Amino acid sequence: MTSQLQTVQARDQHLPRGEWWRQAAIYQVYVRSFADGNGDGVGDLRGVRDRLDYLRGLGVDAIWLNPWYPSPMAGGGYDIADYRDIDPVFGTLAEAEALITEAHTSGIRVIIDIVPNHCSAEHPWFQSALAATPGSPERARFWFRPGRGRDGELPPNNWISRFGGPAWTRVTEANGQPGEWYLHLFAPGQPDFNWTDPAVHAEFLDVLRFWMDRGADGIRIDSAAILVKDPALADGAEPVGPGSAEKYYTDRDGIHEIYREWRRVTDAYPGGRVLIGEIRLPDHERFARYLRPDEMHSAFNFDFLRCPWDAHELRDVIDHTLAAHDPVGAPATWVLSNHDVTRHVTRYGRSDTFDVGDRQHGAALDLDLGTRRARAAVLLTMALPGAVYIYQGEELGLWEVEDLADDLRQDPMFVRSSHVDPGRDGCRIPLPWSGGEPPFGFSPAAGADAPWLPQPQEWSRYTVEAQAYDEGSMLSLYRAVLQLRRVEPALASERTPLDWLHARPDVLAFARGDAFACMVNLSTEPVALPECAAVLLASCPTDGRSLPGDAAAWLRLT
Ligand code: GLC
Repeated sequence: MTSQLQTVQARDQHLPRGEWWRQAAIYQVYVRSFADGNGDGVGDLRGVRDRLDYLRGLGVDAIWLNPWYPSPMAGGGYDIADYRDIDPVFGTLAEAEALITEAHTSGIRVIIDIVPNHCSAEHPWFQSALAATPGSPERARFWFRPGRGRDGELPPNNWISRFGGPAWTRVTEANGQPGEWYLHLFAPGQPDFNWTDPAVHAEFLDVLRFWMDRGADGIRIDSAAILVKDPALADGAEPVGPGSAEKYYTDRDGIHEIYREWRRVTDAYPGGRVLIGEIRLPDHERFARYLRPDEMHSAFNFDFLRCPWDAHELRDVIDHTLAAHDPVGAPATWVLSNHDVTRHVTRYGRSDTFDVGDRQHGAALDLDLGTRRARAAVLLTMALPGAVYIYQGEELGLWEVEDLADDLRQDPMFVRSSHVDPGRDGCRIPLPWSGGEPPFGFSPAAGADAPWLPQPQEWSRYTVEAQAYDEGSMLSLYRAVLQLRRVEPALASERTPLDWLHARPDVLAFARGDAFACMVNLSTEPVALPECAAVLLASCPTDGRSLPGDAAAWLRLT
């Protein structure tokens, strides 16, 4: 293991203390939809191992894998029944270990997903809590409470699940009678842990060690800001909206002690292991608290992800992101898409480009425009100081599949919202690798089951095979950008400052150091490129003198 890690570390020698994660390019692997190695129509670890060469060729520094644990899939795998094993649909623990080793040999680090807010209703702890009595130590690891109303028939409070409906489900006690209720901020199959119980702390420290012992380089912490609940479990002034109960479970002060414990465990391992939080908070100062030197290393930038395609708003997000991270010395991160939001080719192709929470299925869509903007966005994103995340398929220019038949949708969000929210299946469609017909090389050629979600026929033009040797393809652009980002001195460290250059209000232009600049034209008209600059790379063909609308260029300043 040590020698493989050293191979990976050799590349990072220019960074202080091997802090590879400060400006890494991290590729998100949604395992179910990446590549199917055994032909059952579901992506798996064999599939990831077979495609490590592709990822190395793409030029990424690390992969983050969505949960791979045994799970009944009541919450897309974020309902974990065993934190120390692999779901048979994905493979075995031995295969996970082999994947980590092989990734390291390919110079790729591995970040795994850990879900500390909730587990699966099938988790042995929850099963024993169900079998135990009210007030028992088994129930104390979760939030069990008696109901309200004459016979306890009403939920203990008015909290709403993030997937719709009440955040409480009533259990049947061993005597067959309706009994207590348990809290689940997500689906009923995802009971929330009670972090006031020391056993929960000890368990997760052990889970961290389990995976770090197996070589995991980082942990992505799911729903990281909602672990601690106010034990009063009071009603919100209103069920949803600004006056809701969110304040009783979001960003409670006690949460930082959890991440300090985790950091102590992480720091005991060699080779730059990292904690990366999924933290959505409107208050930038409160967000930055999680990134203090004794807590997490990094967190996802949801403000950038949500930002409309608008020069003023983007500049504002970039400025406040950098200003928030600076005092705590943490690197910023830049994210355009993930497995929870509408793919950005689609988002940018609509008149309302602020489209993360409210999916706009059916609204007018210009995919060519969205693609042009997505090409410009990758140049912008990869020129910013900090780490970048690439969601699988964005390097192929995939769009959100919005016309899935209702009976094929699998995301609990769809069912729990009474079909109001179409859910997140549209960004989770299996990747197209090769060939002219589904499954486009996602599964082995002969005798495979159909992919777990159907792929559009138009993706025959979007396969890796179709794009690999096409210089104008999205894949070629990503490869070129990632390669240049690695060798361009101005982008080697996130500490090279970003300086805004004078530009029209609908153009973003900034320098990194004396010799490198990035210019993004968010208007519809061409704008002149600076005279003292040569184009290193552009998101669309340029004559070297002007930059078309919805395009971006990296420039060598002379
Ligand atoms: C996070 C995950 C999302 C999941 C939720 C509940 O937001 O990204 O996919 O549904 O947590 O675990």
